[in-house]
Amino acid sequence: MSNSKIALKAIKIGLLGDSQVGKTAICRAFMNYEFENEYLTTIGNIRLDKKYKLKNGEQIKLILWDSAGQERYRSVAMSTLKAVTGVILVFDVTLRDSFQNVSKWLEDIKENLNNPCLVLFANKIDLDKSLWTIKEEEIIEFAKEKNLKYFKTSAKTKEGINEGFEHIINDAYERIKARAENEQKIELKKKESNEVGEKTGCFGKKKKKKKIDDKNTKKY
Ligand code: GTP
Repeated sequence: MSNSKIALKAIKIGLLGDSQVGKTAICRAFMNYEFENEYLTTIGNIRLDKKYKLKNGEQIKLILWDSAGQERYRSVAMSTLKAVTGVILVFDVTLRDSFQNVSKWLEDIKENLNNPCLVLFANKIDLDKSLWTIKEEEIIEFAKEKNLKYFKTSAKTKEGINEGFEHIINDAYERIKARAENEQKIELKKKESNEVGEKTGCFGKKKKKKKIDDKNTKKY
């Protein structure tokens, strides 16, 4: 990991998951807004901006995309999230379907997005264990199988929220940095080979073809 700084405009993170799993509530908790018990479905996508200090002390602009979980908004969600570097996948520990559908969301991400960093939020852990429909071992196994880091979160009590965001934001930052460094290397290589080409005349100018003068060509 190098310490070179990159010109970073913003880190874009999106939230995906079934309807009512708590994506909006998670965004609100992260923004330090009050928790709302009332459910209002998200229509389209909502953008939230925040200044954020990375682990390395660098201050960045964070753009959060809260998407609508309803099936009919899925293609809108995917097209808005095209430019994100990180995705928070959310399910509700009391809604078994929302956990099973994480695999579908992963397929959608693979098909439509540009290989973002991923993290899994098992949300609503403040609710009584008797209401949970997913055992923790299942979450652990699934996360292992899909190679995902997961956080147990509650948008209500804020448990796990900041830790989860810190993880995905820093991961996304490293991804952007690695891509930028790679591009810089490619640019440098291009520049170097152009310079060598100019010095040696190996390329850049086309060799003139010898003209065959009909008059001077011997005829046998
Ligand atoms: P869509 O906009 O339809 O995609 O839903 P969403 O995923 O954004 O869900 P939303 O944040 O609107 O939350 C749905 C309901 O769950 C609301 O009534 C919230 O108050 C509630 N809720 C969200 N997170 C939590 C949580 O961590 N604990 C508890 N107890 N309730 C939560």
